[in-house]
Amino acid sequence: TDKLQVAIDGPASAGKSTVAKLIAKRFGYVYCDTGAMYRSITLKVIQEGIALDDEPAIVDVLNHTTIDFKPGDPNQLVFLDHHDVTNAIRSEQVTNSVSTVAALPGVRTNLVDQQRNIASHGGVVMDGRDIGTTVLPDADLKIFLVASVSERAERRFKDNAEKGIHTPIKELEAEIATRDYKDSHRKVSPLVKAADAIEINTTQMTIDDVVAEISKLMENKL
Ligand code: C5P
Repeated sequence: TDKLQVAIDGPASAGKSTVAKLIAKRFGYVYCDTGAMYRSITLKVIQEGIALDDEPAIVDVLNHTTIDFKPGDPNQLVFLDHHDVTNAIRSEQVTNSVSTVAALPGVRTNLVDQQRNIASHGGVVMDGRDIGTTVLPDADLKIFLVASVSERAERRFKDNAEKGIHTPIKELEAEIATRDYKDSHRKVSPLVKAADAIEINTTQMTIDDVVAEISKLMENKL
Protein backbone atom coordinates (compact mmCIF):
# COMPACT_ATOMS: atom_id res chain seq x y z
CA THR A 1 0.00 0.00 0.00
CA ASP A 2 1.32 3.49 -0.68
CA LYS A 3 -1.38 5.49 1.09
CA LEU A 4 -3.29 4.41 4.15
CA GLN A 5 -6.73 5.01 5.53
CA VAL A 6 -6.30 5.70 9.24
CA ALA A 7 -9.29 5.72 11.61
CA ILE A 8 -8.96 7.44 14.98
CA ASP A 9 -11.88 7.00 17.35
CA GLY A 10 -12.44 7.61 21.03
CA PRO A 11 -14.43 9.55 23.60
CA ALA A 12 -14.75 13.35 23.85
CA SER A 13 -11.57 15.40 24.32
CA ALA A 14 -9.21 12.43 24.20
CA GLY A 15 -6.93 14.38 21.85
CA LYS A 16 -8.10 12.75 18.61
CA SER A 17 -8.17 15.87 16.45
CA THR A 18 -4.86 17.28 17.72
CA VAL A 19 -3.11 14.01 16.98
CA ALA A 20 -4.94 13.31 13.71
CA LYS A 21 -4.03 16.75 12.34
CA LEU A 22 -0.33 16.26 13.11
CA ILE A 23 -0.25 12.80 11.59
CA ALA A 24 -2.01 13.96 8.43
CA LYS A 25 0.51 16.79 8.07
CA ARG A 26 3.47 14.49 8.63
CA PHE A 27 2.33 11.97 6.00
CA GLY A 28 0.78 14.48 3.58
CA TYR A 29 -2.68 12.95 4.03
CA VAL A 30 -6.10 14.54 4.09
CA TYR A 31 -7.43 15.18 7.59
CA CYS A 32 -11.18 14.75 8.08
CA ASP A 33 -12.73 15.89 11.37
CA THR A 34 -16.10 14.13 11.32
CA GLY A 35 -17.10 15.70 14.65
CA ALA A 36 -16.95 19.09 12.89
CA MET A 37 -19.58 17.83 10.44
CA TYR A 38 -21.97 16.80 13.25
CA ARG A 39 -21.24 20.11 14.98
CA SER A 40 -21.96 22.11 11.80
CA ILE A 41 -25.40 20.63 11.21
CA THR A 42 -26.14 21.10 14.93
CA LEU A 43 -25.22 24.79 14.67
CA LYS A 44 -27.57 25.22 11.72
CA VAL A 45 -30.40 23.42 13.54
CA ILE A 46 -29.95 25.77 16.52
CA GLN A 47 -29.81 28.85 14.27
CA GLU A 48 -33.00 27.82 12.47
CA GLY A 49 -34.82 27.15 15.75
CA ILE A 50 -35.51 23.50 14.92
CA ALA A 51 -35.96 21.04 17.82
CA LEU A 52 -32.81 18.92 18.30
CA ASP A 53 -34.77 15.68 17.86
CA ASP A 54 -36.98 16.69 14.91
CA GLU A 55 -35.46 14.13 12.57
CA PRO A 56 -37.51 14.82 9.40
CA ALA A 57 -36.92 18.58 9.63
CA ILE A 58 -33.19 18.11 10.33
CA VAL A 59 -32.70 15.63 7.48
CA ASP A 60 -34.46 18.11 5.19
CA VAL A 61 -32.09 20.86 6.30
CA LEU A 62 -29.11 18.55 5.81
CA ASN A 63 -30.18 17.87 2.23
CA HIS A 64 -29.84 21.61 1.54
CA THR A 65 -26.60 22.11 3.43
CA THR A 66 -22.96 22.08 2.35
CA ILE A 67 -20.13 21.40 4.79
CA ASP A 68 -16.58 21.91 3.47
CA PHE A 69 -13.08 21.83 4.89
CA LYS A 70 -10.40 24.20 3.64
CA PRO A 71 -6.74 24.41 4.53
CA GLY A 72 -5.97 27.06 7.16
CA ASP A 73 -3.12 27.94 9.44
CA PRO A 74 -2.68 26.61 12.09
CA ASN A 75 -6.05 24.87 11.85
CA GLN A 76 -8.18 23.58 9.03
CA LEU A 77 -11.22 25.81 8.46
CA VAL A 78 -14.81 24.55 8.45
CA PHE A 79 -17.42 26.14 6.16
CA LEU A 80 -21.17 25.73 6.60
CA ASP A 81 -23.04 26.87 3.48
CA HIS A 82 -19.86 28.77 2.51
CA HIS A 83 -19.65 30.66 5.84
CA ASP A 84 -16.65 30.12 8.09
CA VAL A 85 -17.96 28.39 11.25
CA THR A 86 -14.58 27.12 12.53
CA ASN A 87 -15.02 28.83 15.90
CA ALA A 88 -18.82 28.90 16.10
CA ILE A 89 -19.08 25.10 16.11
CA ARG A 90 -16.94 24.92 19.30
CA SER A 91 -19.40 26.92 21.44
CA GLU A 92 -20.71 25.36 24.64
CA GLN A 93 -24.23 25.36 23.22
CA VAL A 94 -23.20 23.32 20.17
CA THR A 95 -21.00 21.03 22.28
CA ASN A 96 -23.87 20.24 24.62
CA SER A 97 -26.43 19.73 21.83
CA VAL A 98 -24.46 17.79 19.23
CA SER A 99 -24.90 14.29 20.70
CA THR A 100 -28.68 14.57 20.42
CA VAL A 101 -28.51 15.48 16.74
CA ALA A 102 -25.77 12.91 16.06
CA ALA A 103 -28.00 10.13 17.43
CA LEU A 104 -30.54 10.59 14.60
CA PRO A 105 -30.17 7.76 12.06
CA GLY A 106 -31.06 10.00 9.09
CA VAL A 107 -28.33 12.45 10.04
CA ARG A 108 -25.76 9.67 10.29
CA THR A 109 -26.65 8.11 6.92
CA ASN A 110 -26.13 11.45 5.20
CA LEU A 111 -22.86 12.36 6.90
CA VAL A 112 -21.36 8.84 6.72
CA ASP A 113 -21.91 8.95 2.93
CA GLN A 114 -20.02 12.23 2.71
CA GLN A 115 -17.23 10.89 4.91
CA ARG A 116 -16.77 7.80 2.74
CA ASN A 117 -16.53 10.06 -0.31
CA ILE A 118 -13.80 12.12 1.31
CA ALA A 119 -11.87 8.95 2.22
CA SER A 120 -12.24 7.38 -1.23
CA HIS A 121 -9.42 9.49 -2.67
CA GLY A 122 -6.64 7.73 -0.74
CA GLY A 123 -4.43 8.76 2.16
CA VAL A 124 -6.72 10.00 4.91
CA VAL A 125 -6.72 10.38 8.67
CA MET A 126 -10.30 10.50 9.87
CA ASP A 127 -11.30 11.06 13.48
CA GLY A 128 -14.65 10.49 15.15
CA ARG A 129 -16.63 7.91 17.10
CA ASP A 130 -17.61 5.28 14.51
CA ILE A 131 -14.89 5.50 11.87
CA GLY A 132 -13.34 2.08 12.54
CA THR A 133 -16.69 0.37 13.12
CA THR A 134 -18.94 1.94 10.49
CA VAL A 135 -17.49 4.59 8.20
CA LEU A 136 -14.27 2.79 7.19
CA PRO A 137 -14.55 -0.81 8.45
CA ASP A 138 -11.64 -1.75 6.14
CA ALA A 139 -9.31 1.03 7.31
CA ASP A 140 -5.62 0.02 7.22
CA LEU A 141 -5.06 1.18 10.79
CA LYS A 142 -7.61 1.73 13.55
CA ILE A 143 -6.68 3.60 16.70
CA PHE A 144 -8.88 3.96 19.78
CA LEU A 145 -7.65 6.87 21.93
CA VAL A 146 -8.71 7.00 25.56
CA ALA A 147 -7.80 9.09 28.62
CA SER A 148 -9.30 9.49 32.08
CA VAL A 149 -12.25 11.88 32.45
CA SER A 150 -10.28 14.12 34.83
CA GLU A 151 -7.34 14.37 32.43
CA ARG A 152 -9.68 15.17 29.54
CA ALA A 153 -11.48 17.85 31.58
CA GLU A 154 -8.14 19.37 32.50
CA ARG A 155 -7.06 19.50 28.84
CA ARG A 156 -10.30 21.19 27.88
CA PHE A 157 -9.96 23.61 30.77
CA LYS A 158 -6.56 24.69 29.40
CA ASP A 159 -7.86 24.98 25.81
CA ASN A 160 -10.78 27.03 27.09
CA ALA A 161 -8.56 29.34 29.12
CA GLU A 162 -6.71 30.27 25.91
CA LYS A 163 -10.03 31.22 24.38
CA GLY A 164 -11.08 33.22 27.45
CA ILE A 165 -13.69 30.66 28.55
CA HIS A 166 -13.67 29.79 32.26
CA THR A 167 -16.10 26.92 32.84
CA PRO A 168 -15.18 25.16 36.14
CA ILE A 169 -13.38 21.80 35.81
CA LYS A 170 -16.18 19.93 37.60
CA GLU A 171 -18.69 21.22 35.04
CA LEU A 172 -16.42 20.16 32.18
CA GLU A 173 -16.07 16.69 33.73
CA ALA A 174 -19.85 16.39 33.92
CA GLU A 175 -20.26 17.56 30.31
CA ILE A 176 -17.66 15.11 29.04
CA ALA A 177 -19.21 12.22 30.99
CA THR A 178 -22.70 13.08 29.71
CA ARG A 179 -21.54 13.30 26.08
CA ASP A 180 -19.65 9.99 26.36
CA TYR A 181 -22.73 8.34 27.84
CA LYS A 182 -25.00 9.60 25.05
CA ASP A 183 -22.48 8.70 22.32
CA SER A 184 -21.95 5.19 23.75
CA HIS A 185 -25.62 4.40 24.26
CA ARG A 186 -27.28 5.55 21.05
CA LYS A 187 -28.90 2.90 18.86
CA VAL A 188 -27.07 3.63 15.60
CA SER A 189 -23.26 3.20 15.47
CA PRO A 190 -22.53 4.01 19.09
CA LEU A 191 -19.03 4.85 20.29
CA VAL A 192 -17.34 1.48 20.72
CA LYS A 193 -13.84 0.21 20.11
CA ALA A 194 -13.62 -1.82 16.89
CA ALA A 195 -12.48 -5.40 17.46
CA ASP A 196 -9.32 -4.76 15.42
CA ALA A 197 -8.52 -1.30 16.84
CA ILE A 198 -5.37 -0.61 18.82
CA GLU A 199 -6.14 1.16 22.09
CA ILE A 200 -3.79 3.91 23.25
CA ASN A 201 -4.31 5.42 26.70
CA THR A 202 -2.99 8.98 26.48
CA THR A 203 -3.57 9.97 30.12
CA GLN A 204 0.16 10.03 30.86
CA MET A 205 1.43 10.70 27.33
CA THR A 206 2.41 13.91 25.57
CA ILE A 207 0.99 14.75 22.14
CA ASP A 208 4.41 14.02 20.61
CA ASP A 209 4.47 10.58 22.26
CA VAL A 210 1.09 9.71 20.78
CA VAL A 211 2.01 10.99 17.32
CA ALA A 212 5.26 8.99 17.42
CA GLU A 213 3.48 5.80 18.41
CA ILE A 214 0.83 6.07 15.70
CA SER A 215 3.45 7.04 13.09
CA LYS A 216 5.38 3.90 13.94
CA LEU A 217 2.26 1.77 13.51
CA MET A 218 1.69 3.43 10.13
CA GLU A 219 5.27 2.90 8.96
CA ASN A 220 4.82 -0.80 9.67
CA LYS A 221 1.89 -0.87 7.22
CA LEU A 222 3.60 1.02 4.43
O1 C5P B 1 -15.18 14.92 17.96
P1 C5P B 1 -16.13 15.95 18.52
O2 C5P B 1 -16.07 16.04 20.02
O3 C5P B 1 -16.00 17.29 17.87
O4 C5P B 1 -17.57 15.39 18.14
C1 C5P B 1 -18.74 16.07 18.52
C2 C5P B 1 -19.90 15.10 18.61
O5 C5P B 1 -20.26 14.64 17.31
C3 C5P B 1 -19.67 13.82 19.43
O6 C5P B 1 -19.87 14.03 20.81
C4 C5P B 1 -20.71 12.88 18.82
O7 C5P B 1 -21.99 13.11 19.37
C5 C5P B 1 -20.74 13.31 17.38
N1 C5P B 1 -19.92 12.46 16.51
C6 C5P B 1 -20.44 11.26 16.10
N2 C5P B 1 -19.76 10.46 15.22
C7 C5P B 1 -18.57 10.85 14.76
C8 C5P B 1 -17.98 12.07 15.19
C9 C5P B 1 -18.69 12.85 16.09
O8 C5P B 1 -21.53 10.89 16.51
N3 C5P B 1 -17.93 10.08 13.86
